[in-house]
Amino acid sequence: MPRASGPVCISVINMKGGVGKTTIAALLARYASRTLGLNVLAVDLDPQANLSQAFMRDGYKRFLRDQAPSIVEIFSGHQPPTSKSAAPSTLDISDIVVSNTPLGGPRLRVIPSRFDFADNLMSSIGANPRVLANVIANNFQDMDIVIIDCAPTESIFTRVAYHASRYVLVPVRPEFFATIGFPLLNDSLDAFRSSNRGHVIDVAGIVINNSSYHYSGNRGGPERERSIGEIGKQAKENGWFIFENQIPFSRGFPKMMRGDFKHTGDADLFSHFASEFFQGLEIQKEGD
Ligand SMILES: Nc1ncnc2c1ncn2[C@@H]1O[C@H](COP(=O)(O)OP(=O)(O)O)[C@@H](O)[C@H]1O
Ligand SMILES: [Mg+2]
Repeated sequence: MPRASGPVCISVINMKGGVGKTTIAALLARYASRTLGLNVLAVDLDPQANLSQAFMRDGYKRFLRDQAPSIVEIFSGHQPPTSKSAAPSTLDISDIVVSNTPLGGPRLRVIPSRFDFADNLMSSIGANPRVLANVIANNFQDMDIVIIDCAPTESIFTRVAYHASRYVLVPVRPEFFATIGFPLLNDSLDAFRSSNRGHVIDVAGIVINNSSYHYSGNRGGPERERSIGEIGKQAKENGWFIFENQIPFSRGFPKMMRGDFKHTGDADLFSHFASEFFQGLEIQKEGD
């Protein structure tokens, strides 16, 4: 039974690359569907398409080869002529959604991205930043959760993600310059709120993802400690919560993203964070 109030939409954002956005988005989405039994929509808003590749694996190559519709068509609003149809045709959202992926299982759907989903292209066609929010409003009210994986730069996609989101989750790596993007994120959220007064959007919290080369064994180096102190200070200034459960460094994470869940070591501790995250949002399956 879907939630009476519709899905909870969360964007995973940091204006920095390589902090674990895609890993966290994918594993949270997987946890929600496989462990909590929720209906999940995962949206890939990054032209790098790492989230799509993680979920679809070999299916992603097929998807590219078949010129299947993707997030790009959500913005253009139609299906272009292809080798199979000689005219533009109506967009059917169900043709875009990929179900039953190897990583996601039966309750998770993916809206995949494509490499030509470039920001300059979207800006030049004057993409409407509300399109994704509209698509979710009109087609995905039966989901429990929507998780959106974002590109690492502030762009039109950031606004697309904001328009579709109630919450923002911010992964950080405890390293030098970890908080460099925080003021930018804070300003961009404030600017968004002031031009969209009816829209309530909050930072759900910061999650410290220890995928740092300074990390060794169970103890971090001094750089890591300094950085965690700085993250704490800046989070407090912005009124952002920091999740108690950090995500440890583990080679199990890239393995999981390749679909290998055997001998994943400390990466199994991800479930502590995932559990804290969903409990905090009070997302439960209604009727259970
Ligand atoms: N906690 C972690 N431990 C080890 N490796 C990690 C961890 N988190 C992320 N990684 C690895 O770091 C790289 C960047 O992660 P990714 O999720 O793609 O970041 P982003 O989406 O922010 O660019 C990937 O190779 C990923 O497997
Ligand atoms: Mg990514």
